[in-house]
Amino acid sequence: MPGFVKLATLGELPPGGTKEVEHDGRIYALFNVDGQISALDGICPHQGGPLAEGQVEGTTVTCPWHGWQFDVRTGQNSLGGRLRQPVSEVKVEGQDVLVAVP
Ligand code: FES
Repeated sequence: MPGFVKLATLGELPPGGTKEVEHDGRIYALFNVDGQISALDGICPHQGGPLAEGQVEGTTVTCPWHGWQFDVRTGQNSLGGRLRQPVSEVKVEGQDVLVAVP
């Protein structure tokens, strides 16, 4: 059922932090960039690398396996074009990080 689900707390996701969370068979990569939380589909569309384990510079995460890069806010691939990693809406309520799930 669609809705927002708590997938982390702010304590688990401090500024500059990342976290991989599994929920209902899906992997989410959570990022905190300067206090702004975002959630990407955590599985790289290239060959399935774990985006939450990638290095983040600015708002760009680099897949640890072969270096594909995505904007953590929009999911846009750095090469442009139509390749866009799915992004989920995020709400913060108190200390809870809530992510919109299908
Ligand atoms: S699996 Fe992510 S770049 Fe290859």
